[in-house]
Amino acid sequence: MASSFVSMFVVFIVGILVGSSNAQLSTNFYCETCPQLFPTVRAVVEEAIAQEARMGASLLRLHFHDCFINGCDASNLLDDTPTMLGEKTAAPNLNSVRGFEVIDQIKSAVEQVCPGVVSCADILAIAAKDSVNILRGPEWEVKLGRRDAMTASFAAANSSNGIPPPSSNLSALISNFQSKGLSARDLVALYGAHTIGQARCKSFRPHIYNDTNIDPSYARANQAICPSNSGNGDGNLAPLDPQTPTTFDNTYYRSLVSKQSLLHSDQELYNGGSTDMLVQTYVSNPGAFSSDFITGMLNMGDIMPLTGSQGQIRTNCRRIN
Ligand code: HEM
Ligand SMILES: *[C@@H]1O[C@H](CO)[C@@H](O)[C@H](O)[C@H]1NC(C)=O
Ligand SMILES: *[C@@H]1O[C@H](CO)[C@@H](O)[C@H](O)[C@H]1NC(C)=O
Ligand SMILES: *[C@@H]1O[C@H](CO)[C@@H](O)[C@H](O)[C@H]1NC(C)=O
Repeated sequence: MASSFVSMFVVFIVGILVGSSNAQLSTNFYCETCPQLFPTVRAVVEEAIAQEARMGASLLRLHFHDCFINGCDASNLLDDTPTMLGEKTAAPNLNSVRGFEVIDQIKSAVEQVCPGVVSCADILAIAAKDSVNILRGPEWEVKLGRRDAMTASFAAANSSNGIPPPSSNLSALISNFQSKGLSARDLVALYGAHTIGQARCKSFRPHIYNDTNIDPSYARANQAICPSNSGNGDGNLAPLDPQTPTTFDNTYYRSLVSKQSLLHSDQELYNGGSTDMLVQTYVSNPGAFSSDFITGMLNMGDIMPLTGSQGQIRTNCRRIN
């Protein structure tokens, strides 16, 4: 009796803590303090994508890699220092994540119009949203008010409990997302981000040579780009969505159904398991994909933000003030 009362109380308190940190994010956070924020970010993202369409994918991925390691606090933007090994050389990031220069450009543009006000973590969230929309995906209102971390964690970023590796099976993906408060629906919808962008041979080699749940001619075409010996052509690139690699649409799910996915983990979403139905829904109903993707992005953006007087507003996204 007493112990169940105590545990109810703990659940109640934890509920308040989780609820309150998220409740501090709001769509109008910078309305008064930085009214030019949205057009300022948008202009830099538009220019970067006009130079290279793939940059939209790279910016979207940066927000994901931020939120999945100790919450959306821009820890992944910190450069290593003599006393801190950051996240940039961790397995999911090394020779892979990109777009830091564009974030620097956005940050300097924002610092010019409202110095010391807007966090790097919020810039990542806005740049991700703009990238999706510029590549013809949906538009939505991002929640803001995050603050920036004072430290980063190589260990957290190098762990499979952080960003899941492309060798993951479906149950590992679902439990990874669950550990961050994200549902299986969030997983399948957010995975639609792979409708844009590229992967390296190193990431897709095992799937195109060793898996049997892959369309043979699609596997052969990618084998021509990616030699089988590890270390050989590791950085060679192929599009994650073979149909429309620079358009944010639902064709990625059609590729899954036709077994033309580049990564082992992608095909896990449509491999006779519990998420097959949802993949089929997104194939036949692009509106359902858009709306679930937006929900997923809002849920992902809510992961453990620093708010209030926690952390700081960095002046330079690469280092603490
Ligand atoms: C859930 C498990 C996920 C796994 C295992 C995964 C894995 C990967 C891998 C291996 C790559 C290629 C990296 C390389 O070879 O350099 C990649 C690229 C990418 N990922 Fe994911 N990803 C996942 C979820 C997500 C989510 C949730 C998002 C965003 C909401 C996302 C966005 C992207 C984008 C846009 C790219 C292309 C980046 C570029 O071209 O620069 N991924 N992902
Ligand atoms: C980081 O993770 C990779 C891949 O899981 C592993 O091979 C490597 O040893 C790890 N590095 C460190 C320093 O823990
Ligand atoms: C999925 O992967 C996890 C972690 O690598 C492993 O422990 C588990 O046995 C795998 N599950 C299935 C169904 O293969
Ligand atoms: C395929 O699997 C075999 C046996 O596990 C392994 O030795 C080989 O390195 C794998 N090849 C690739 C390209 O992943």
